[in-house]
Amino acid sequence: MPEKKMDTEKDELLVLIGGTGDLATRRIIPALYRLDNDGKLPARFRVIALARTALDTQSYRDMLKKTCAQAGACFKSGSWAGFVGRIHYLQGDACDPGSYKKLKSSWFANKNTNALFYLACTPDIFGTAAALISKAGLAGHKADYNGAYRRLLIEKPFGTDLSSARELNRLLHEHYKENDIYRIDHYLGKDAVQNILYFRFANPIFEPLWNRKHIEKIEITVSESGGIGQRGAFYDATGALRDMLQNHLMQLFCLCAMEAPSDLLSQEAIREEKVRVLRSIPHIKSDLIPGMALRAQYHGYLQEAAVNPASFTETFVALRLDVDNWRWSGVPFILKTGKAMDRSKTEIVVHFKKGGALVHGKGGDANHLVLRIEPEEGAVLRFTSKAVGLEETVSEELVGMIRESRLKGPGPYERLLGDAISGDSTLFIRFDETEEAWRIVEPILNYWKTGPGKATEQYARGSVGPDTSVLLAENSVRVPKQAAI
Ligand code: BG6
Repeated sequence: MPEKKMDTEKDELLVLIGGTGDLATRRIIPALYRLDNDGKLPARFRVIALARTALDTQSYRDMLKKTCAQAGACFKSGSWAGFVGRIHYLQGDACDPGSYKKLKSSWFANKNTNALFYLACTPDIFGTAAALISKAGLAGHKADYNGAYRRLLIEKPFGTDLSSARELNRLLHEHYKENDIYRIDHYLGKDAVQNILYFRFANPIFEPLWNRKHIEKIEITVSESGGIGQRGAFYDATGALRDMLQNHLMQLFCLCAMEAPSDLLSQEAIREEKVRVLRSIPHIKSDLIPGMALRAQYHGYLQEAAVNPASFTETFVALRLDVDNWRWSGVPFILKTGKAMDRSKTEIVVHFKKGGALVHGKGGDANHLVLRIEPEEGAVLRFTSKAVGLEETVSEELVGMIRESRLKGPGPYERLLGDAISGDSTLFIRFDETEEAWRIVEPILNYWKTGPGKATEQYARGSVGPDTSVLLAENSVRVPKQAAI
Protein backbone atom coordinates (compact mmCIF):
# COMPACT_ATOMS: atom_id res chain seq x y z
CA MET A 1 0.00 0.00 0.00
CA PRO A 2 1.41 3.43 -0.86
CA GLU A 3 2.36 5.51 2.11
CA LYS A 4 -0.52 7.85 2.98
CA LYS A 5 0.97 11.28 2.89
CA MET A 6 -0.51 14.44 1.59
CA ASP A 7 1.23 16.42 -1.08
CA THR A 8 1.19 19.89 0.36
CA GLU A 9 3.21 21.45 -2.42
CA LYS A 10 0.74 21.21 -5.25
CA ASP A 11 -2.68 22.52 -6.10
CA GLU A 12 -5.12 19.70 -5.68
CA LEU A 13 -8.53 19.69 -7.40
CA LEU A 14 -11.58 17.51 -7.13
CA VAL A 15 -13.72 18.10 -10.20
CA LEU A 16 -17.28 17.02 -9.53
CA ILE A 17 -19.00 16.27 -12.82
CA GLY A 18 -22.69 16.45 -11.89
CA GLY A 19 -22.11 18.90 -9.05
CA THR A 20 -25.78 19.57 -8.28
CA GLY A 21 -26.91 15.91 -8.09
CA ASP A 22 -27.77 13.95 -4.95
CA LEU A 23 -24.52 12.01 -4.92
CA ALA A 24 -22.46 15.21 -5.02
CA THR A 25 -24.48 17.32 -2.62
CA ARG A 26 -25.64 14.70 -0.08
CA ARG A 27 -22.76 12.25 0.01
CA ILE A 28 -19.54 13.66 -1.43
CA ILE A 29 -19.60 17.24 -0.11
CA PRO A 30 -20.63 16.25 3.46
CA ALA A 31 -17.84 13.64 3.47
CA LEU A 32 -15.31 16.25 2.32
CA TYR A 33 -16.50 18.59 5.05
CA ARG A 34 -15.85 15.92 7.67
CA LEU A 35 -12.42 15.25 6.20
CA ASP A 36 -11.67 18.96 6.35
CA ASN A 37 -12.83 19.16 9.97
CA ASP A 38 -10.45 16.31 10.77
CA GLY A 39 -7.60 18.14 9.04
CA LYS A 40 -7.37 15.48 6.35
CA LEU A 41 -7.66 17.61 3.22
CA PRO A 42 -4.48 18.88 1.59
CA ALA A 43 -3.85 22.57 2.19
CA ARG A 44 -4.34 23.60 -1.42
CA PHE A 45 -7.39 21.43 -2.06
CA ARG A 46 -10.29 22.88 -4.08
CA VAL A 47 -13.56 21.46 -5.37
CA ILE A 48 -14.81 22.54 -8.79
CA ALA A 49 -18.43 21.52 -9.30
CA LEU A 50 -19.58 21.33 -12.89
CA ALA A 51 -23.31 21.20 -13.69
CA ARG A 52 -25.83 22.63 -16.13
CA THR A 53 -27.97 24.58 -13.64
CA ALA A 54 -27.53 28.34 -13.86
CA LEU A 55 -25.91 29.13 -10.50
CA ASP A 56 -22.97 31.17 -9.33
CA THR A 57 -20.47 30.02 -6.74
CA GLN A 58 -22.19 31.84 -3.89
CA SER A 59 -25.64 30.37 -4.56
CA TYR A 60 -24.10 26.92 -4.99
CA ARG A 61 -22.37 27.27 -1.62
CA ASP A 62 -25.68 28.33 -0.04
CA MET A 63 -27.36 25.27 -1.49
CA LEU A 64 -24.63 23.01 -0.08
CA LYS A 65 -25.13 24.35 3.41
CA LYS A 66 -28.73 23.12 3.24
CA THR A 67 -27.93 19.72 1.73
CA CYS A 68 -25.14 19.16 4.26
CA ALA A 69 -27.53 20.01 7.10
CA GLN A 70 -30.05 17.52 5.69
CA ALA A 71 -27.28 14.92 5.51
CA GLY A 72 -26.69 15.41 9.25
CA ALA A 73 -23.49 17.49 9.03
CA CYS A 74 -22.24 18.68 12.37
CA PHE A 75 -21.27 22.32 11.78
CA LYS A 76 -18.34 23.35 13.93
CA SER A 77 -18.08 27.06 14.56
CA GLY A 78 -16.08 28.80 11.89
CA SER A 79 -15.22 25.61 10.04
CA TRP A 80 -17.97 25.85 7.43
CA ALA A 81 -16.78 29.20 6.11
CA GLY A 82 -13.25 27.86 5.72
CA PHE A 83 -14.45 24.70 4.02
CA VAL A 84 -16.94 26.26 1.66
CA GLY A 85 -14.30 28.75 0.55
CA ARG A 86 -12.62 25.80 -1.17
CA ILE A 87 -15.66 25.16 -3.38
CA HIS A 88 -16.30 26.78 -6.75
CA TYR A 89 -19.06 26.36 -9.29
CA LEU A 90 -18.67 26.15 -13.04
CA GLN A 91 -21.76 26.11 -15.18
CA GLY A 92 -21.40 23.69 -18.09
CA ASP A 93 -22.64 20.54 -19.75
CA ALA A 94 -20.69 17.32 -19.08
CA CYS A 95 -21.23 16.26 -22.72
CA ASP A 96 -19.98 19.51 -24.24
CA PRO A 97 -16.25 19.74 -25.11
CA GLY A 98 -16.51 23.51 -24.49
CA SER A 99 -17.11 22.93 -20.76
CA TYR A 100 -13.77 21.18 -20.40
CA LYS A 101 -11.98 23.94 -22.29
CA LYS A 102 -13.44 26.41 -19.81
CA LEU A 103 -12.41 24.16 -16.92
CA LYS A 104 -8.89 23.91 -18.28
CA SER A 105 -8.40 27.61 -18.84
CA SER A 106 -9.86 28.55 -15.43
CA TRP A 107 -8.25 25.91 -13.21
CA PHE A 108 -5.42 24.12 -14.95
CA ALA A 109 -3.07 26.96 -15.86
CA ASN A 110 -0.52 25.19 -13.74
CA LYS A 111 0.29 21.91 -15.51
CA ASN A 112 1.38 20.06 -12.43
CA THR A 113 -1.94 20.43 -10.60
CA ASN A 114 -3.11 17.16 -9.04
CA ALA A 115 -6.68 16.30 -9.92
CA LEU A 116 -9.44 13.80 -9.27
CA PHE A 117 -12.34 13.76 -11.71
CA TYR A 118 -15.40 12.32 -10.01
CA LEU A 119 -18.15 11.23 -12.41
CA ALA A 120 -21.10 11.98 -10.15
CA CYS A 121 -23.34 12.26 -13.21
CA THR A 122 -25.89 9.81 -14.61
CA PRO A 123 -24.34 6.51 -15.78
CA ASP A 124 -25.45 6.94 -19.38
CA ILE A 125 -22.85 9.68 -19.85
CA PHE A 126 -19.91 8.08 -17.98
CA GLY A 127 -18.18 7.11 -21.22
CA THR A 128 -18.74 10.47 -22.95
CA ALA A 129 -17.60 12.53 -19.97
CA ALA A 130 -14.52 10.37 -19.37
CA ALA A 131 -13.52 10.61 -23.04
CA LEU A 132 -14.04 14.40 -23.15
CA ILE A 133 -11.90 14.94 -20.02
CA SER A 134 -9.12 13.01 -21.70
CA LYS A 135 -9.55 14.68 -25.10
CA ALA A 136 -9.29 18.08 -23.42
CA GLY A 137 -5.88 16.98 -22.12
CA LEU A 138 -7.02 17.17 -18.49
CA ALA A 139 -6.42 13.54 -17.60
CA GLY A 140 -5.70 10.15 -19.17
CA HIS A 141 -2.59 8.39 -20.39
CA LYS A 142 -2.16 10.45 -23.53
CA ALA A 143 -0.63 13.46 -21.84
CA ASP A 144 2.07 14.22 -19.32
CA TYR A 145 1.27 16.24 -16.19
CA ASN A 146 4.74 17.00 -14.91
CA GLY A 147 4.54 14.34 -12.24
CA ALA A 148 1.07 15.34 -11.00
CA TYR A 149 -1.61 12.68 -10.75
CA ARG A 150 -4.87 12.74 -12.67
CA ARG A 151 -7.38 10.13 -11.47
CA LEU A 152 -10.90 9.20 -12.51
CA LEU A 153 -13.47 8.25 -9.86
CA ILE A 154 -16.57 6.45 -10.97
CA GLU A 155 -19.41 4.90 -9.04
CA LYS A 156 -21.73 2.01 -9.86
CA PRO A 157 -23.56 1.04 -11.99
CA PHE A 158 -20.65 -0.10 -14.14
CA GLY A 159 -22.84 -1.14 -17.05
CA THR A 160 -26.16 -2.94 -16.90
CA ASP A 161 -24.96 -6.31 -18.18
CA LEU A 162 -21.74 -8.01 -19.25
CA SER A 163 -21.47 -6.46 -22.70
CA SER A 164 -22.18 -2.90 -21.53
CA ALA A 165 -19.68 -3.32 -18.66
CA ARG A 166 -17.04 -4.53 -21.12
CA GLU A 167 -17.78 -1.66 -23.47
CA LEU A 168 -17.46 0.87 -20.63
CA ASN A 169 -14.15 -0.67 -19.53
CA ARG A 170 -12.89 -0.71 -23.13
CA LEU A 171 -13.71 2.96 -23.50
CA LEU A 172 -12.12 3.89 -20.18
CA HIS A 173 -8.97 1.93 -21.04
CA GLU A 174 -8.74 3.69 -24.39
CA HIS A 175 -8.16 6.93 -22.45
CA TYR A 176 -6.91 5.95 -18.96
CA LYS A 177 -4.51 3.54 -17.33
CA GLU A 178 -6.35 1.03 -15.11
CA ASN A 179 -4.27 2.29 -12.16
CA ASP A 180 -5.79 5.74 -12.55
CA ILE A 181 -9.41 4.51 -12.50
CA TYR A 182 -11.00 4.30 -9.06
CA ARG A 183 -14.31 2.38 -9.23
CA ILE A 184 -16.34 2.93 -6.09
CA ASP A 185 -18.54 0.40 -4.31
CA HIS A 186 -19.38 2.30 -1.13
CA TYR A 187 -19.80 -0.98 0.82
CA LEU A 188 -16.03 -1.41 0.66
CA GLY A 189 -15.65 1.94 2.40
CA LYS A 190 -17.50 0.63 5.47
CA ASP A 191 -15.22 -0.19 8.34
CA ALA A 192 -17.23 -3.26 9.35
CA VAL A 193 -16.94 -4.66 5.83
CA GLN A 194 -13.16 -4.20 5.86
CA ASN A 195 -13.12 -5.94 9.21
CA ILE A 196 -14.24 -9.21 7.56
CA LEU A 197 -10.72 -9.58 6.18
CA TYR A 198 -9.16 -8.88 9.57
CA PHE A 199 -11.55 -11.26 11.30
CA ARG A 200 -10.62 -14.04 8.87
CA PHE A 201 -6.94 -13.50 8.31
CA ALA A 202 -5.68 -11.87 11.49
CA ASN A 203 -7.16 -14.68 13.65
CA PRO A 204 -5.65 -18.01 12.67
CA ILE A 205 -8.09 -19.68 15.11
CA PHE A 206 -10.81 -19.66 12.44
CA GLU A 207 -8.76 -20.64 9.42
CA PRO A 208 -8.85 -24.45 10.03
CA LEU A 209 -12.66 -24.26 10.22
CA TRP A 210 -13.19 -22.00 7.21
CA ASN A 211 -13.86 -24.65 4.56
CA ARG A 212 -16.25 -27.38 3.35
CA LYS A 213 -15.14 -29.84 5.99
CA HIS A 214 -16.72 -27.73 8.74
CA ILE A 215 -19.10 -25.30 7.08
CA GLU A 216 -22.54 -26.32 5.85
CA LYS A 217 -23.61 -23.05 4.23
CA ILE A 218 -23.05 -19.30 4.42
CA GLU A 219 -25.85 -16.75 4.23
CA ILE A 220 -25.18 -13.13 3.29
CA THR A 221 -28.15 -10.83 3.86
CA VAL A 222 -28.67 -7.13 3.22
CA SER A 223 -32.25 -6.21 4.03
CA GLU A 224 -33.67 -2.70 3.99
CA SER A 225 -36.87 -1.64 5.72
CA GLY A 226 -37.41 1.29 3.33
CA GLY A 227 -39.07 0.91 -0.05
CA ILE A 228 -37.88 2.51 -3.28
CA GLY A 229 -38.87 6.06 -2.24
CA GLN A 230 -38.75 8.57 -5.06
CA ARG A 231 -36.49 6.43 -7.24
CA GLY A 232 -39.27 4.62 -9.12
CA ALA A 233 -38.03 5.27 -12.66
CA PHE A 234 -34.44 4.25 -11.89
CA TYR A 235 -35.42 1.28 -9.75
CA ASP A 236 -38.00 -0.16 -12.10
CA ALA A 237 -35.39 -0.27 -14.87
CA THR A 238 -32.82 -1.78 -12.50
CA GLY A 239 -34.19 -4.20 -9.85
CA ALA A 240 -32.52 -5.69 -6.79
CA LEU A 241 -30.19 -8.03 -8.69
CA ARG A 242 -28.52 -5.17 -10.55
CA ASP A 243 -28.88 -2.53 -7.82
CA MET A 244 -27.50 -4.51 -4.87
CA LEU A 245 -26.55 -8.10 -5.53
CA GLN A 246 -24.25 -7.77 -8.53
CA ASN A 247 -22.11 -5.29 -6.61
CA HIS A 248 -22.52 -4.87 -2.81
CA LEU A 249 -23.43 -8.48 -1.98
CA MET A 250 -20.92 -9.85 -4.45
CA GLN A 251 -18.19 -7.84 -2.65
CA LEU A 252 -19.29 -9.27 0.71
CA PHE A 253 -19.21 -12.73 -0.84
CA CYS A 254 -15.66 -12.16 -2.13
CA LEU A 255 -14.40 -11.10 1.28
CA CYS A 256 -15.94 -14.21 2.91
CA ALA A 257 -14.85 -16.71 0.29
CA MET A 258 -11.49 -15.49 -1.08
CA GLU A 259 -8.18 -17.13 -0.23
CA ALA A 260 -5.71 -15.29 1.98
CA PRO A 261 -3.92 -12.57 0.02
CA SER A 262 -0.15 -12.82 0.05
CA ASP A 263 -0.15 -9.49 1.89
CA LEU A 264 -3.15 -8.13 3.81
CA LEU A 265 -2.01 -4.61 3.02
CA SER A 266 -1.35 -5.09 -0.67
CA GLN A 267 -3.98 -3.64 -2.99
CA GLU A 268 -3.10 -5.91 -5.89
CA ALA A 269 -2.93 -9.09 -3.78
CA ILE A 270 -6.42 -8.50 -2.35
CA ARG A 271 -8.02 -7.61 -5.65
CA GLU A 272 -6.39 -10.61 -7.33
CA GLU A 273 -7.87 -13.01 -4.77
CA LYS A 274 -11.32 -11.47 -5.12
CA VAL A 275 -11.28 -11.99 -8.88
CA ARG A 276 -10.00 -15.55 -8.46
CA VAL A 277 -12.90 -16.59 -6.27
CA LEU A 278 -15.41 -15.00 -8.66
CA ARG A 279 -13.81 -16.94 -11.50
CA SER A 280 -14.39 -20.16 -9.52
CA ILE A 281 -18.14 -19.81 -9.89
CA PRO A 282 -19.25 -21.89 -12.85
CA HIS A 283 -21.58 -20.58 -15.53
CA ILE A 284 -25.16 -20.91 -14.29
CA LYS A 285 -27.13 -23.06 -16.72
CA SER A 286 -30.67 -21.90 -17.47
CA ASP A 287 -32.35 -25.20 -16.48
CA LEU A 288 -30.88 -24.84 -12.96
CA ILE A 289 -31.99 -21.25 -12.42
CA PRO A 290 -35.38 -21.97 -10.75
CA GLY A 291 -33.48 -23.77 -7.97
CA MET A 292 -30.76 -21.12 -7.73
CA ALA A 293 -32.41 -17.73 -7.99
CA LEU A 294 -35.63 -16.37 -6.64
CA ARG A 295 -37.15 -12.94 -7.14
CA ALA A 296 -40.11 -11.21 -5.55
CA GLN A 297 -41.85 -7.85 -5.27
CA TYR A 298 -43.32 -6.20 -2.19
CA HIS A 299 -47.06 -5.62 -2.12
CA GLY A 300 -47.72 -2.08 -3.25
CA TYR A 301 -44.61 -1.81 -5.45
CA LEU A 302 -46.71 -1.60 -8.62
CA GLN A 303 -48.50 1.44 -7.23
CA GLU A 304 -45.26 3.34 -6.49
CA ALA A 305 -44.66 6.58 -8.45
CA ALA A 306 -43.02 6.08 -11.87
CA VAL A 307 -43.26 2.27 -11.71
CA ASN A 308 -44.85 0.40 -14.61
CA PRO A 309 -48.09 -1.09 -13.14
CA ALA A 310 -47.37 -4.35 -14.99
CA SER A 311 -43.70 -4.46 -13.96
CA PHE A 312 -41.88 -7.74 -13.22
CA THR A 313 -38.96 -5.92 -11.59
CA GLU A 314 -37.81 -7.59 -8.37
CA THR A 315 -37.46 -5.70 -5.09
CA PHE A 316 -36.15 -8.89 -3.44
CA VAL A 317 -33.65 -11.36 -4.82
CA ALA A 318 -31.99 -14.45 -3.41
CA LEU A 319 -29.24 -16.26 -5.23
CA ARG A 320 -27.40 -19.48 -4.47
CA LEU A 321 -23.75 -19.46 -5.47
CA ASP A 322 -21.70 -22.66 -5.65
CA VAL A 323 -17.97 -22.28 -5.80
CA ASP A 324 -15.96 -24.78 -7.76
CA ASN A 325 -12.77 -24.89 -5.75
CA TRP A 326 -11.14 -27.06 -3.15
CA ARG A 327 -12.17 -24.96 -0.17
CA TRP A 328 -15.84 -24.50 -0.98
CA SER A 329 -17.07 -27.36 -3.15
CA GLY A 330 -20.52 -28.41 -1.86
CA VAL A 331 -20.99 -25.36 0.39
CA PRO A 332 -23.85 -23.14 -0.84
CA PHE A 333 -23.58 -19.39 -0.38
CA ILE A 334 -27.04 -17.80 -0.18
CA LEU A 335 -27.05 -14.09 -1.05
CA LYS A 336 -30.28 -12.26 -0.21
CA THR A 337 -31.37 -8.66 -0.44
CA GLY A 338 -34.66 -6.82 -0.49
CA LYS A 339 -36.49 -3.55 0.10
CA ALA A 340 -39.52 -3.01 2.40
CA MET A 341 -38.41 -5.87 4.66
CA ASP A 342 -39.04 -6.30 8.39
CA ARG A 343 -35.85 -4.47 9.33
CA SER A 344 -32.65 -2.99 7.99
CA LYS A 345 -29.68 -5.24 8.59
CA THR A 346 -26.54 -6.47 6.95
CA GLU A 347 -25.07 -9.68 8.26
CA ILE A 348 -23.19 -12.82 7.35
CA VAL A 349 -24.18 -16.08 8.99
CA VAL A 350 -21.74 -18.98 8.83
CA HIS A 351 -23.53 -22.27 9.61
CA PHE A 352 -21.12 -24.92 10.82
CA LYS A 353 -21.87 -28.59 10.21
CA LYS A 354 -23.82 -30.37 12.90
CA GLY A 355 -22.12 -32.95 15.05
CA GLY A 356 -23.44 -36.50 15.58
CA ALA A 357 -24.86 -36.04 19.11
CA LEU A 358 -28.60 -35.80 19.59
CA VAL A 359 -29.68 -32.43 20.88
CA HIS A 360 -32.98 -32.11 22.80
CA GLY A 361 -34.73 -28.83 23.34
CA LYS A 362 -33.97 -25.51 21.74
CA GLY A 363 -30.22 -25.93 21.50
CA GLY A 364 -30.43 -27.17 17.92
CA ASP A 365 -30.45 -23.64 16.53
CA ALA A 366 -26.80 -23.04 17.26
CA ASN A 367 -23.35 -23.68 15.86
CA HIS A 368 -23.44 -20.41 13.92
CA LEU A 369 -21.09 -17.53 13.64
CA VAL A 370 -22.78 -14.26 12.78
CA LEU A 371 -20.76 -11.32 11.52
CA ARG A 372 -22.95 -8.28 11.98
CA ILE A 373 -22.16 -5.36 9.74
CA GLU A 374 -25.10 -2.99 10.25
CA PRO A 375 -26.90 -1.41 12.03
CA GLU A 376 -24.80 -2.59 14.98
CA GLU A 377 -21.41 -4.10 14.30
CA GLY A 378 -20.19 -7.21 16.08
CA ALA A 379 -19.65 -10.95 16.07
CA VAL A 380 -21.95 -13.50 17.64
CA LEU A 381 -21.17 -17.15 18.26
CA ARG A 382 -24.30 -19.22 18.88
CA PHE A 383 -23.74 -22.47 20.67
CA THR A 384 -25.70 -25.15 22.47
CA SER A 385 -25.61 -25.36 26.22
CA LYS A 386 -27.45 -27.22 28.98
CA ALA A 387 -30.60 -25.54 30.28
CA VAL A 388 -30.17 -24.81 33.97
CA GLY A 389 -31.80 -27.57 36.05
CA LEU A 390 -33.17 -29.42 33.04
CA GLU A 391 -31.92 -32.25 30.86
CA GLU A 392 -32.51 -30.04 27.88
CA THR A 393 -30.46 -27.73 25.76
CA VAL A 394 -30.75 -24.09 24.91
CA SER A 395 -29.03 -21.93 22.37
CA GLU A 396 -26.81 -19.25 23.88
CA GLU A 397 -24.84 -16.38 22.42
CA LEU A 398 -21.34 -15.19 22.91
CA VAL A 399 -21.39 -11.62 21.67
CA GLY A 400 -18.32 -9.56 21.02
CA MET A 401 -16.58 -6.99 18.88
CA ILE A 402 -19.50 -4.61 19.45
CA ARG A 403 -18.30 -1.41 17.89
CA GLU A 404 -19.78 1.88 17.03
CA SER A 405 -17.61 2.53 14.03
CA ARG A 406 -20.64 3.58 12.00
CA LEU A 407 -21.24 6.47 14.32
CA LYS A 408 -17.71 7.33 15.33
CA GLY A 409 -15.46 6.18 12.52
CA PRO A 410 -15.18 7.70 9.09
CA GLY A 411 -18.19 7.09 6.85
CA PRO A 412 -17.66 5.14 3.62
CA TYR A 413 -17.30 8.22 1.43
CA GLU A 414 -14.79 9.86 3.74
CA ARG A 415 -12.70 6.74 3.73
CA LEU A 416 -12.88 6.28 -0.04
CA LEU A 417 -12.26 9.93 -0.89
CA GLY A 418 -9.32 10.01 1.50
CA ASP A 419 -7.89 6.89 -0.14
CA ALA A 420 -8.41 8.26 -3.65
CA ILE A 421 -6.59 11.47 -2.72
CA SER A 422 -3.68 9.52 -1.26
CA GLY A 423 -3.60 7.05 -4.18
CA ASP A 424 -4.56 3.87 -2.34
CA SER A 425 -6.80 1.75 -4.57
CA THR A 426 -7.22 -1.28 -2.27
CA LEU A 427 -10.89 -0.52 -1.59
CA PHE A 428 -11.76 0.17 -5.21
CA ILE A 429 -12.94 -2.32 -7.79
CA ARG A 430 -10.75 -3.55 -10.62
CA PHE A 431 -12.33 -3.80 -14.10
CA ASP A 432 -12.30 -7.60 -14.13
CA GLU A 433 -14.18 -7.82 -10.80
CA THR A 434 -17.16 -6.01 -12.30
CA GLU A 435 -17.02 -8.12 -15.46
CA GLU A 436 -16.87 -11.40 -13.52
CA ALA A 437 -19.79 -10.34 -11.34
CA TRP A 438 -21.84 -9.55 -14.46
CA ARG A 439 -20.85 -12.88 -16.01
CA ILE A 440 -22.26 -14.66 -12.96
CA VAL A 441 -25.63 -12.89 -12.84
CA GLU A 442 -26.24 -12.44 -16.56
CA PRO A 443 -27.87 -15.87 -17.19
CA ILE A 444 -30.40 -15.03 -14.48
CA LEU A 445 -31.22 -11.65 -15.98
CA ASN A 446 -31.71 -13.32 -19.36
CA TYR A 447 -33.85 -16.07 -17.90
CA TRP A 448 -36.10 -13.57 -16.14
CA LYS A 449 -36.53 -11.57 -19.32
CA THR A 450 -38.15 -14.42 -21.17
CA GLY A 451 -40.55 -17.35 -20.94
CA PRO A 452 -40.92 -19.34 -17.73
CA GLY A 453 -38.64 -17.03 -15.82
CA LYS A 454 -41.11 -14.15 -15.95
CA ALA A 455 -43.28 -14.74 -12.89
CA THR A 456 -42.40 -12.59 -9.86
CA GLU A 457 -43.62 -13.66 -6.41
CA GLN A 458 -45.16 -11.15 -3.99
CA TYR A 459 -44.29 -10.59 -0.33
CA ALA A 460 -45.88 -8.47 2.37
CA ARG A 461 -44.27 -5.12 3.19
CA GLY A 462 -42.43 -5.36 6.48
CA SER A 463 -42.02 -9.15 6.25
CA VAL A 464 -38.91 -11.34 6.03
CA GLY A 465 -39.61 -11.88 2.33
CA PRO A 466 -40.36 -15.10 0.49
CA ASP A 467 -39.32 -18.58 1.58
CA THR A 468 -35.89 -19.27 0.09
CA SER A 469 -35.55 -22.90 1.19
CA VAL A 470 -35.89 -24.07 -2.44
CA LEU A 471 -32.33 -22.78 -2.96
CA LEU A 472 -31.02 -25.38 -0.52
CA ALA A 473 -32.76 -28.40 -2.05
CA GLU A 474 -30.54 -31.51 -2.21
CA ASN A 475 -30.78 -31.73 -5.99
CA SER A 476 -29.30 -28.30 -6.42
CA VAL A 477 -25.62 -29.26 -6.12
CA ARG A 478 -24.11 -27.41 -9.05
CA VAL A 479 -20.44 -28.21 -9.15
CA PRO A 480 -18.47 -31.43 -9.28
CA LYS A 481 -17.52 -32.74 -5.85
CA GLN A 482 -13.89 -32.29 -4.88
CA ALA A 483 -12.06 -35.06 -3.07
CA ALA A 484 -12.75 -35.33 0.66
CA ILE A 485 -10.58 -33.27 2.98
C1 BG6 B 1 -27.20 1.77 -3.17
C2 BG6 B 1 -28.48 1.30 -3.81
O1 BG6 B 1 -26.10 1.38 -3.95
O2 BG6 B 1 -27.07 1.20 -1.87
C3 BG6 B 1 -29.67 1.64 -2.93
O3 BG6 B 1 -28.63 1.92 -5.08
C4 BG6 B 1 -29.47 1.11 -1.53
O4 BG6 B 1 -30.87 1.10 -3.48
C5 BG6 B 1 -28.11 1.55 -0.97
O5 BG6 B 1 -30.52 1.59 -0.71
C6 BG6 B 1 -27.84 0.87 0.35
O6 BG6 B 1 -26.68 1.42 0.92
P1 BG6 B 1 -26.49 1.44 2.52
O7 BG6 B 1 -25.10 1.93 2.71
O8 BG6 B 1 -27.54 2.36 3.06
O9 BG6 B 1 -26.70 0.02 2.95
